[in-house]
Amino acid sequence: MPGEPTTTPSSEADDALAGRALEALEHAYSPYSRFRVGAALLAEDGRVFTGCNVENASFGLTWCAERTAVVKAVSEGARRFRAMAIATDQERPVMPCGACRQVLHEFAPELRLLVVSRSGRRYETFLGHLLPEAFGPGDLR
Ligand code: THU
Repeated sequence: MPGEPTTTPSSEADDALAGRALEALEHAYSPYSRFRVGAALLAEDGRVFTGCNVENASFGLTWCAERTAVVKAVSEGARRFRAMAIATDQERPVMPCGACRQVLHEFAPELRLLVVSRSGRRYETFLGHLLPEAFGPGDLR
């Protein structure tokens, strides 16, 4: 079972992925919440797919950053992933919402997550820790 979120030492690869998430955050369309989120999803083949939150005047139609990145990746043929960086403007780490956890679980139940705050604080955790005993593809077999 993956452990509690920890402050993680930085590697060059993590720095690059965190940087991509922070860049993606700049594209956030969040006029209603003013809460910007960016995500960068590293595929096993080395490609990185980014996403931001995209809100809508009909609030329930909002896309989260993490799900934007997943949908971009899958629609371009990537289904296996190593890690995702998630960035916000907040000082504290902001973890992915329940809907995004479920969508990530579909493709990468053991995904490594790197949660990045504006001040550069960085936390590492694993999807299996955030969504234990999840419902998933195996339950439909
Ligand atoms: N949001 C994300 O993009 N990812 C999450 O995991 C949590 C929430 C967005 C949705 C909405 O645009 C804003 O943050 C406030 O909920």
